[in-house]
Amino acid sequence: MNIVLLGPPGAGKGTQAKMLVEKYGIPQISTGDILRANLKAQTELGLQAKKFMDAGELVPDEVVIGIIDNRLKEDDCQKGYMLDGFPRTVAQAEALDKILSGRGSGIDDVISIEVPNEELLARLTGRRTCRECGQGYHVVFDPPQKEGVCDKCGGELYQRDDDNEATVTSRLEVYTKQTQPLIDYYKGKELLRPINGQGKIQEIFDRIVNVLG
Ligand code: AP5
Ligand code: MG
Ligand code: ZN
Repeated sequence: MNIVLLGPPGAGKGTQAKMLVEKYGIPQISTGDILRANLKAQTELGLQAKKFMDAGELVPDEVVIGIIDNRLKEDDCQKGYMLDGFPRTVAQAEALDKILSGRGSGIDDVISIEVPNEELLARLTGRRTCRECGQGYHVVFDPPQKEGVCDKCGGELYQRDDDNEATVTSRLEVYTKQTQPLIDYYKGKELLRPINGQGKIQEIFDRIVNVLG
């Protein structure tokens, strides 16, 4: 089961991925999480990526393609995986197809989570993320039991640097220009599975599971 989760910033890719990991037992591979982990560890890659992420722009294609190429070789990916936030440009999608076909593999389904822009800003500016396990919350829509503390692991919740109004605005523009063309790309390959991303988190999960079987 090789899945791509596609959707604008704040659509719920990470939220749904965490639930799908539990249901299907395949790993979530988030290029955003990998870049943030690199930044935390102060690696060269992390420091390089930071200026793009802070500006709400995309990290260069060759950098993220290299990350994914290596990550997909790991043992835990051999029974399937969920790509969250990759690909994000047509060039990334083409590179992914090439990498996978070279390994006799391919993408099975592209889950495209659709949420109107008006709702995305509120979701992103209210998001909180666990420093330890990466679990996402929302101060209004999905609050933790105890303010500032992760329900799952007791870790500290923080606000991502790029979840401020200015950076979110630029991320949404970048999505429209650079990532939205992937909808037609995957429609053309008959892999696109559009999902209404509005409603309760559990309802959206049920819609996705319905499609994946
Ligand atoms: P990345 O970390 O991938 O961020 P993103 O795509 O902007 O997506 P988000 O993580 O913000 O949204 P999400 O869909 O995961 O939403 P979530 O589930 O958390 O990328 C960050 C940066 O890294 C990029 O800007 C770029 O610089 C770089 N990068 C990463 N990948 C790259 C690539 N492939 N190429 C180049 N550069 C790359 O939910 C959001 C909030 O909404 C949460 O608070 C949640 O609780 C809440 N919520 C979820 N579902 C619902 C619901 N149904 N109702 C109400 N609230 C909800
Ligand atoms: Mg995410
Ligand atoms: Zn946690």
